[in-house]
Amino acid sequence: MTLIRADGVSRTYRSFSLVGAGAARTALAGVSLSVAAGETVALLGRSGCGKSTLARLLCGLERPDRGTVSYRGTPLARLDRAGLRRFRREVQMVFQDAPGAVNPRFDIRAIIAEPLRHLTSLDARARARRVDELLEMVELPAALASMLPSQVSGGQLQRVCIARALAPSPALVVLDEAVSNLDLHLQAATLALLKRLQQASGLAYLFVTHDLRLVERFAARTVVMDAGTVVEETPSGALVELRHPASLLLKSAILPPLPARMPAPAPVA
Ligand SMILES: Nc1ncnc2c1ncn2[C@@H]1O[C@H](COP(=O)(O)OP(=O)(O)O)[C@@H](O)[C@H]1O
Ligand SMILES: [Mg+2]
Repeated sequence: MTLIRADGVSRTYRSFSLVGAGAARTALAGVSLSVAAGETVALLGRSGCGKSTLARLLCGLERPDRGTVSYRGTPLARLDRAGLRRFRREVQMVFQDAPGAVNPRFDIRAIIAEPLRHLTSLDARARARRVDELLEMVELPAALASMLPSQVSGGQLQRVCIARALAPSPALVVLDEAVSNLDLHLQAATLALLKRLQQASGLAYLFVTHDLRLVERFAARTVVMDAGTVVEETPSGALVELRHPASLLLKSAILPPLPARMPAPAPVA
């Protein structure tokens, strides 16, 4: 079953300055993409190609100039109150910049509980229990609950943001460069965690990244974007099949692996 679908969406940004309207910049030009329940879709493309714009349209944070976004078959603009409420609860987003995505004065418990207050009818006690459960789900110590964002590490704070996204039991989580700021070890650990969470709950992911290596690790249907359009798709995430020049560019951007061993020093005469 299709959860979310964009049909021919376009989005143009206009810049304004003291001397009047500047050039219009087309971020998306007729993009279509869908994510089915339980599916993982990777959205890959170089920086500035329109990935985040598409992600924001899919989450209803912005409206397309043309085309439609539909949730469970209904265009967002035609969802009734109950439908809109369900959409807001079931589609959650995790961003790249975890420190910028949380209120620095809230403790971790309040940060994770925030969507529960807005999107569910749980009372304070049930919310507290749910936060404990969520911390355990993302494999963070319970003692973190009373800490401030400045008191936890970057990797931990990104897990807090994942816990917050999972709080209202979403059907889809849009991860926009969500692990791109983490070091390699934490990236691998976070991807493995996301996989385990998906196996346990059957949620769908839209995994947005400019980093082909992350897509390789996540192994999912891959959609490649370039300059505001979809240029290529692979059904299985077999990245060897990618042929489009924009895809090849992403491949060649990956640094070759370090040599296993330094060459032996020349013998001293
Ligand atoms: N709010 C905005 N105002 C003006 N231009 C924007 C805005 N958001 C994105 N853009 C422009 O749209 C294009 C696509 O940006 P974005 O969707 O962020 O790409 P990506 O996430 O792939 O790096 C870029 O040229 C960017 O400068
Ligand atoms: Mg982006």
